Amino acid sequence: MVDQRSIGVALLYCLLLLLFESAFGQQVQQQQQRLSSGIELTALFELRSSLGLRSKDWPRKVDPCSNWTGISCENGSVIRINISGFRRTRLGRLNPQFAVNSLANFTNLISFNASKFLLPGSIPDWFGQRLLTLQVLDLSSCSVTGVIPLSIGNMTNLTSLYLSNNRLTGQIPATLGQLLSLSVLDLSNNLLAGSIPSSFGSLRNLTSLDISLNNLTGPIPLGIGVLSKLQSLNLSSNSLTSSIPAQLGDLRSLVDLDLSSNGLSGLVPQDLRGLRNLQRMNFGNNSLGGSLPVNLFPSPSQLQFIVLRNNNFSGDLPEVLWSIPGLNVLDISHNNFTGKLPSNSASNGSATAAELDISQNKFYGGLTSVLSRFTSTDLSGNYFEGRVPDYVHENASLSTNCLQNVTDQRTLTDCASFYSARGLIFDNFGRPNSTEPPVTESGKSNRNTIILAAVLGGVGLIVVLIVLLLLVSCARRRSTTNHRGIGVGPVPAGEGTPSPGVAINFSSLGDLFTYQQLLQATGDFSDANLIKHGHSGDLFRGVLEGGLPIVVKRIDLQSIKKEAYLLELDFFSKVSHTRVVPLLGHCLEKENEKFLVYKYMPNGDLSSSLYRKSNSEDDSLKSLDWITRLKIAIGAAEGLSYLHHECTPPLVHRDVQASSILLDDKFEVRLGSLSVVCAQEGDGHQNRITRTSEQGSSGPSTALCAYDVYCFGKVLLGLVTGKLDTSSDTETKEWFEQTLPYISIYDKELVTKILDPSLMVDEDLLEEVWAMAIVARSCLNPKPSRRPLMRYILKALENPLRVVREDNSGSARLRTTSSRGSWNAALFGSWRQSSSDVAVIPAASTTKAEGGSSFKHSGTTGSHNGSGDHSSSRRRHSREICPEPPEAQDIERQDRD
Ligand SMILES: *[C@@H]1O[C@H](CO)[C@@H](O)[C@H](O)[C@H]1NC(C)=O
Ligand SMILES: *[C@@H]1O[C@H](CO)[C@@H](O)[C@H](O)[C@H]1NC(C)=O
Ligand SMILES: *[C@@H]1O[C@H](CO)[C@@H](O)[C@H](O)[C@H]1NC(C)=O
Ligand SMILES: *[C@@H]1O[C@H](CO)[C@@H](O)[C@H](O)[C@H]1NC(C)=O
Ligand SMILES: *[C@@H]1O[C@H](CO)[C@@H](O)[C@H](O)[C@H]1NC(C)=O
Ligand SMILES: *[C@@H]1O[C@H](CO)[C@@H](O)[C@H](O)[C@H]1NC(C)=O
Ligand SMILES: *[C@@H]1O[C@H](CO)[C@@H](O)[C@H](O)[C@H]1NC(C)=O
Ligand SMILES: *[C@@H]1O[C@H](CO)[C@@H](O)[C@H](O)[C@H]1NC(C)=O
Ligand SMILES: *[C@@H]1O[C@H](CO)[C@@H](O)[C@H](O)[C@H]1NC(C)=O
Repeated sequence: MVDQRSIGVALLYCLLLLLFESAFGQQVQQQQQRLSSGIELTALFELRSSLGLRSKDWPRKVDPCSNWTGISCENGSVIRINISGFRRTRLGRLNPQFAVNSLANFTNLISFNASKFLLPGSIPDWFGQRLLTLQVLDLSSCSVTGVIPLSIGNMTNLTSLYLSNNRLTGQIPATLGQLLSLSVLDLSNNLLAGSIPSSFGSLRNLTSLDISLNNLTGPIPLGIGVLSKLQSLNLSSNSLTSSIPAQLGDLRSLVDLDLSSNGLSGLVPQDLRGLRNLQRMNFGNNSLGGSLPVNLFPSPSQLQFIVLRNNNFSGDLPEVLWSIPGLNVLDISHNNFTGKLPSNSASNGSATAAELDISQNKFYGGLTSVLSRFTSTDLSGNYFEGRVPDYVHENASLSTNCLQNVTDQRTLTDCASFYSARGLIFDNFGRPNSTEPPVTESGKSNRNTIILAAVLGGVGLIVVLIVLLLLVSCARRRSTTNHRGIGVGPVPAGEGTPSPGVAINFSSLGDLFTYQQLLQATGDFSDANLIKHGHSGDLFRGVLEGGLPIVVKRIDLQSIKKEAYLLELDFFSKVSHTRVVPLLGHCLEKENEKFLVYKYMPNGDLSSSLYRKSNSEDDSLKSLDWITRLKIAIGAAEGLSYLHHECTPPLVHRDVQASSILLDDKFEVRLGSLSVVCAQEGDGHQNRITRTSEQGSSGPSTALCAYDVYCFGKVLLGLVTGKLDTSSDTETKEWFEQTLPYISIYDKELVTKILDPSLMVDEDLLEEVWAMAIVARSCLNPKPSRRPLMRYILKALENPLRVVREDNSGSARLRTTSSRGSWNAALFGSWRQSSSDVAVIPAASTTKAEGGSSFKHSGTTGSHNGSGDHSSSRRRHSREICPEPPEAQDIERQDRD
């Protein structure tokens, strides 16, 4: 029987109980939290007295679990003790000690935090035997000394171990690698030495590792790369050496990477691309070098902080770095980064509170709008030029650049030589370009006397030379713009003009430079600026005050014949052509030294350009590609064709070789080495037959265009085979014997046997290579008269496919060279020679032709006489490309008319 009343009472009781529970619940809970263990209560009081804690924090007569600061209990047992930042009693302060023995009496303690509480002394060894329940041990900033005991490795339940900001010494015990549950390990700012234990690779649960500010040495262990949960890695301010291991790229979770202020060197590994979550990276203050991999940053949009300052980085900064929207700090200062700022910035939106420091690098060019988003900007110590735009923040640091209208900038010489070393022209701080220094009163009169002296001194010689040389009168081609370069000031009338009757027209020889100017431009002709000892003088690079880069030839008249430079001056007074290196001026004021000033050619000469050190770190050589080689061949042929066919009488260069073929910034050819140019001999002696070449004579120098053709053939063969310089005649002969047999008009594939191994050419280009080889071989015909004329060579090079790809009829024609003396007599005259019949002409001598009578005249197949303007017909026939030559004598005659 269930009593209705008793049910009601029970319900009421329950209700009351619930009400009571809710009203006094907190008290009930605290009731449960009362410290129930007498041992632990004793231990707490022991701790209180050994550490000298104050009643304010740990009062007597109240329950520690509920009323002591920093004590947490569970089931009546202490689980957490936190005395972080506590102050000791007056007495305790007198003799602070690392006296925590009673900690061993807490059987359930999972956390002990004593950070910022003074514990002078070393970590007791028994921690590793008695505190095995601990999950968190925080002894940071406790003035702890001594070594980290090996036994710490037994505290395998530790998830966080903070020992930072102490004076711990010795090595990091490898036993720490046993703490498999460890998530946070902070050993920073101690005096730890030795290397990072490789056992750290076992700490798979680690999310944060900080060993910064110690005295660690050795490399970063590769094993760290397996810590896939690691979000923060800080190894900064140690003495770590070696390079950054590529394995770090496996740290997929890494957000923060700080390797700064070590002795790390080498390149930044490409593999860091794996750091998909990286937001902050600091590689500053190391010896890292090379250029940054372009794709170093896989998800750049997350990046907030990039510091690479004070390394040896070079090359361009990956462009992506300029447009990361969330980037707060970009500090790449004190490196050798170079390049221009990108002009179109993706993020030229509103300014963020971002900081940019690119100071002390080698950036150049103008300031651009990429700078607009940075509120703090340090651009000092670069080579920026131009005006400072408005969007550059007022407080930006701009010193030591090449900027206009800003104080503390670099000197003009500094800026100009930096720009010229890159083949660029400095804007001269916005002032008008000038190669002339401001002429002061005294300077002017001084200069006049010098000039007068030079003129008077030179007159006698010049007069002698007129007789010798100056019958030459070249077709002056001055229809185009002044090729003498930019910024050449007008030559004052009268100055430098020799007495009447002297043929060298100094007014057409560019500027008069003072010796002082040239000293300044070349750093006193310092060895550092010496390009080479040429046969007609030493060549120096230099920079004029206006920033124009130049090359100066210093001719020491004690070792070089006077005629040489006068010959060259005469040449320049008569000839001006886009294919000839521009003469900017001269300086004749010194008695024994004369100077000629040329425009600087950024790509040097062909012999130094064919192979060049590539930019990458390895020492591999980069060779000119085929397109450029062909361009150079055509350019040189144009120059020679001008000398041979457009000057009257024809001029022979006499020094055609790779080092005479100068290259401007676009690899356009400018012929140099012009001190031995002379008029072709044999005017009126066409019929005199000499065989000096075949006898290898090095007798009195004579000049024939065919000699240039022969030398040009060597250059062409060099472009095909990759070998440009042969030092001796024997070597040249050997070279010909090894290569010429592989040049056949019937077999394209043969040429691949002698092809420069560094040339990558596909089938199409191979035909051009083949064509050039064929032209080269025909130029090398032992008989000067059989060598093709330069203008035909030029046409063949301009249309190489027409040389080899002549349809069947053309090929047939090739094979029947004897028939009707067709155009290929000019180009293919040598094919009837046996391959062993190889002419080696001593480089020092020049040759005479046989009179050219071997050309068989035939006007029947060609409508083109070889002297016309081939541009009049758009559709070129092979005949126009390699036109049928009239009889050689006719050509000679035409050229002289
Ligand atoms: C102990 O703590 C409880 C609640 O936190 C408080 O009500 C009580 O007054 C404290 N006792 C003493 C002696 O401070
Ligand atoms: C507390 O621990 C110490 C050291 O292990 C021990 O000597 C002592 O007896 C313990 N105290 C109590 C009350 O058990
Ligand atoms: C370590 O932690 C595990 C799980 O939390 C626990 O079972 C074990 O008893 C702990 N070890 C010690 C020595 O307290
Ligand atoms: C603790 O570590 C030390 C040194 O690593 C070792 O000798 C000892 O046996 C370990 N003790 C326990 C209880 O694991
Ligand atoms: C590592 O962490 C995971 C998750 O936080 C946990 O489940 C695992 O037990 C931990 N491993 C060790 C060895 O403590
Ligand atoms: C760091 O270690 C080197 C030797 O490894 C030692 O010469 C130097 O004194 C140490 N520096 C400090 C601050 O301990
Ligand atoms: C930059 O390069 C120059 C020349 O190569 C070198 O002397 C200098 O030490 C480098 N500077 C830095 C910071 O790497
Ligand atoms: C140079 O700067 C001054 C003020 O700093 C300014 O008044 C002047 O107009 C500037 N000159 C030029 C050419 O920009
Ligand atoms: C100087 O010459 C350079 C190159 O031709 C040119 O870019 C620059 O604008 C010139 N500077 C002035 C002020 O004319």
